[in-house]
Amino acid sequence: MKKILIPAIAAFVILLSSCGSDETTLGKAYEDHFLIGTAINGMQISGADPQALPFIASQFNSVTAENEMKWERIHPQPGVYNFGVADSIVDFAERNGMKVIGHVLVWHSQTPWWVFQDSLGNQLTRDALLERMREHIHTVVGHYKGRVLGWDVVNEAVNEDGSLRKTKWLEIIGEDYIEKAFIFANEADPDAELYYNDYNNEEPAKLAGVIPIIKNLQAKGIRIDGVGIQGHWHLDSPDMAIVDKSIGEYGALGMKVMITEMEINVLPTPTRFYGAEISNRGAYLDSLNPYVDGLPDSVQTQLTDRYAELFRILLKHDDAVTRVTFWGVHDGYSWKNGWPIPGRTNYPLLFDRNYGLKPAYHAVIKEAEKIK
Ligand code: GLA
Repeated sequence: MKKILIPAIAAFVILLSSCGSDETTLGKAYEDHFLIGTAINGMQISGADPQALPFIASQFNSVTAENEMKWERIHPQPGVYNFGVADSIVDFAERNGMKVIGHVLVWHSQTPWWVFQDSLGNQLTRDALLERMREHIHTVVGHYKGRVLGWDVVNEAVNEDGSLRKTKWLEIIGEDYIEKAFIFANEADPDAELYYNDYNNEEPAKLAGVIPIIKNLQAKGIRIDGVGIQGHWHLDSPDMAIVDKSIGEYGALGMKVMITEMEINVLPTPTRFYGAEISNRGAYLDSLNPYVDGLPDSVQTQLTDRYAELFRILLKHDDAVTRVTFWGVHDGYSWKNGWPIPGRTNYPLLFDRNYGLKPAYHAVIKEAEKIK
């Protein structure tokens, strides 16, 4: 009897403990450390994928609109604001007790050309563009006043070498366009957190360009609460020691640090595609799309180990880290299937195309459980 009972009890305990970890969620596992978010898109909010919204509400506790709050969507023509889909995202988040991140106010991309021109097609003056920026920020931030935890105020203003990116904002307004954007956002919702967001800003040269932006705002008494490191990462890059160090450096300036658009690409990547420079695109080749029929175990293990290592670092810095947002709900929704090379099958997230829990998911949960 005893002989049967002991293995039976052991099996029951193993079953219980494995069910236990499946029943937890990312949000719950990390609730004592930082928010866990996902990008959410218009298709999901429309209900076209009936599994999406319940799944999002169960696993995550914050959302970022993948596209619906970008200038081209929310303010497509002069004087025309389309809040409909973004409003549905905010309503969904509030119904489910989730935080909303506003993405994004001032960016060079997904911003229509008319923004920089008058009705005759002439480039705007500094004053006219500042007024247009002010009106946009006041209207959008004002519309969501009190309902958005924090805004990505300026996105991707810095080049890889740390210099300021030559955008229309910089060309027409000058370097202080960044200050003005933060001032306008703070006027429109004094309680919202305000962030500077970029990709590769964990890399030393780019970080050295972002630090003076933060210090300048702080020296002038202009509100900035945090830095978003987008986290469009790869199996072999960046070096995790760099991520570790950069979080420490931003944190030392009093910044909240967020990984705002996290994924780990597993596909071969020509080196010029590291980062998220969206004007970069390459041609499709079968050799660059090797896992159409599934991810080999060896790569699955690399992905799992990398996520575990990353979350160990984030947990170590949980005094500074306030949020980790995944850029997509599951692998099928990731932009990395279509960029920088169209038509590939990528596996960069924690959930598979059927909303199944990947080994990387279990590894991420385990890191939080280890320090309970
Ligand atoms: C950048 C932007 C995001 C998104 C990604 C690509 O990182 O901040 O809004 O467009 O590129 O999906």
